[in-house]
Amino acid sequence: MVEHFLWHRISAIIVVLLLRDMLKLSGFELGVLTKMLTSHAYREKLGIERFRQAVDMATLPREKAYFRLVVEEEETHFRGCLEVAAETGIHLEELINARMRKEPPGIPPFHTWLDVLLTHTFIDQAGYFVLQGLTQSSIDIYANVATRLIEDEQFHGMKGSVMLIEYFKKLDGRDPGTVAALHNHLGAAARCIGKPNSHGDAEAVRLHLKTRSAAETLNDFCQFADGILKKLSLENLTPLAKKYLPQSATQPHS
Ligand SMILES: [Fe+2]
Ligand SMILES: [Fe+2]
Repeated sequence: MVEHFLWHRISAIIVVLLLRDMLKLSGFELGVLTKMLTSHAYREKLGIERFRQAVDMATLPREKAYFRLVVEEEETHFRGCLEVAAETGIHLEELINARMRKEPPGIPPFHTWLDVLLTHTFIDQAGYFVLQGLTQSSIDIYANVATRLIEDEQFHGMKGSVMLIEYFKKLDGRDPGTVAALHNHLGAAARCIGKPNSHGDAEAVRLHLKTRSAAETLNDFCQFADGILKKLSLENLTPLAKKYLPQSATQPHS
C-alpha cells in the first residue's frame, strides 16, 4: 500500500519534471505562469457560479436562455484553463479553492439585475482585454486556448453593454446604491487585469508568458469603460484612468 502510494507520487513528480522540461520552463517561469493561470481559472469558475445565479434571477425567458448559454461558454473556458494546467503540470484545484475563500471576490455577488449586467459588461470585457495579451503567449497551449476563448468574451462584453445601456434607462444614475454598484464592479474588473508595474507583471511580459502589461491592458479597459459611462450619462465618473492608472503606472520607470 505504502509502496503503491510512493510509486504514485514519484511518477507524478516525474511527469511534472518531464512536462516542465518539454516546455523548457524554469521553476521561476512556472511560478509566474501558475499565478496567471490561477487568477484566470478562478474567475472562469466563479463566472460559472455567478451566471447560474443570473439564470435564476432572469425574469424573461430569452434572458434565461441567453445566460444558460453564457454558463455553457464559461464552462468551456474553465475547461480550457484545465487543459493548460494539465499540459504544464500545474495543480490548479487547491490553488483555485484557496482563492475562492479569499476576499474580495473576483466577481462581486449578484444581489440585483444591475449586478448581473455590470459584471457582464465590465468583467467579461476586462477578460477579453486580458486574453488579447495571451494569444501570442510563448506557452503554445495557453495561446491556443486564449485564441479559442477570446471571441466569446468580446461578445459577452458587447452584449452586456447593450443590455446595461437599455436597463439603465429605468434607473436613477445618481442613486448612491447604483453608483456604489458601478464602483464595485469596475474595481473588480480592474483587479482582474492585474497590478500595473508590479514585479510579477513585468516578469510575465519579460518571459513572454503574455505580451501586454497590466498597464496597457488597464488603459484599454479604462477607455472602453469611459465610453460606456458616457452612454449612461455618467461622464462625471470619467476618466477612469485617473483612478485605476495613476500617472506613475503609465510612465516607464527611469
Ligand atoms: Fe469566460
Ligand atoms: Fe465571459
